[in-house]
Amino acid sequence: MKHYLSVNDIDSLNDWVNEARELKKEPKKLKTLGEGKTIGLLFFNNSLRTRLSTQKAAINLGLDVIVMNFGSEGWALEYVDGTVMDQGTSEHIKEAAQVISQYCDIVAIRAFAGLTNKEEDEAEIVLNGFKKYASVPVVNMESSVGHPLQALADAITLAEQNTKKRPKVVLSWAPHPKALPHAVANSFVQMMQLQEADFVITHPEGYELNPEISKDAIIEHDQKKACEDADFIYVKNWSSYNTYGQVLNQDKNWTMTKEKLGKAKFMHCLPVRRNMIVADEVLDSDQSLVIEQANNRTYSAQIVLKKILENN
Ligand code: CP
Repeated sequence: MKHYLSVNDIDSLNDWVNEARELKKEPKKLKTLGEGKTIGLLFFNNSLRTRLSTQKAAINLGLDVIVMNFGSEGWALEYVDGTVMDQGTSEHIKEAAQVISQYCDIVAIRAFAGLTNKEEDEAEIVLNGFKKYASVPVVNMESSVGHPLQALADAITLAEQNTKKRPKVVLSWAPHPKALPHAVANSFVQMMQLQEADFVITHPEGYELNPEISKDAIIEHDQKKACEDADFIYVKNWSSYNTYGQVLNQDKNWTMTKEKLGKAKFMHCLPVRRNMIVADEVLDSDQSLVIEQANNRTYSAQIVLKKILENN
């Protein structure tokens, strides 16, 4: 594997999850694998978990780590070839990616969707710009359309918690005051397509995800019905895909409650808005897996970096 850009870069989810669970037992086991090498983490957007867990994973593998808040501290980058750069951008991705490749052996990028131009977001100009012009492996730390490190952590969490051959897993939309990207939901759906499970997506009308990602997933617009007898309920907000980037609904009847959760385990990638996305009674209960999901972000990053270091 050269790059880790999407869930599709996982050649065997089961093997990766098992390897990550082994690494979790002894995180420093491969502490010399990255010796003498450097990873650069470039953030065009805010982060808590991704920033700290990816650093932690890199340190566990003996990598040196450089972190840059590119969005607030770097030069504004130009991504279009042939542009006369007489407007707001100061440096072209061509030079920036090549220069960073001299300093780093792996570069990891966080660059969210702008949610104003679907075509631009789906072109993944930041991630693909680095893929095109960097000479080192590129890792996606959440891009416009995917968050594959989160999805891998979620797969590890599911494997640790699941007791059934074919669990029922529900992805439920929940209300949020701001327009949020589709990245987490997209990657969770793609990851579930690699799992043996009864998988259901529930959301209000108008919140259909990109059909090229959801494919033939079962959609149930009645949230209570969707959640019946679920083993795991993953709750996440996303903005409308069809009416691109718009908040069409903030109906708090979609907030996850203990009643709807039933006996299921609650999952969310964090950060989460309490009593908007999920009621306190759920988040504070022992049915919540959110802290363990965040813990597993270290091991999902570690398995990805391990595979890159072994193959490059
Ligand atoms: N879940 C997640 O990616 O968290 P951060 O945005 O804090 O990195």
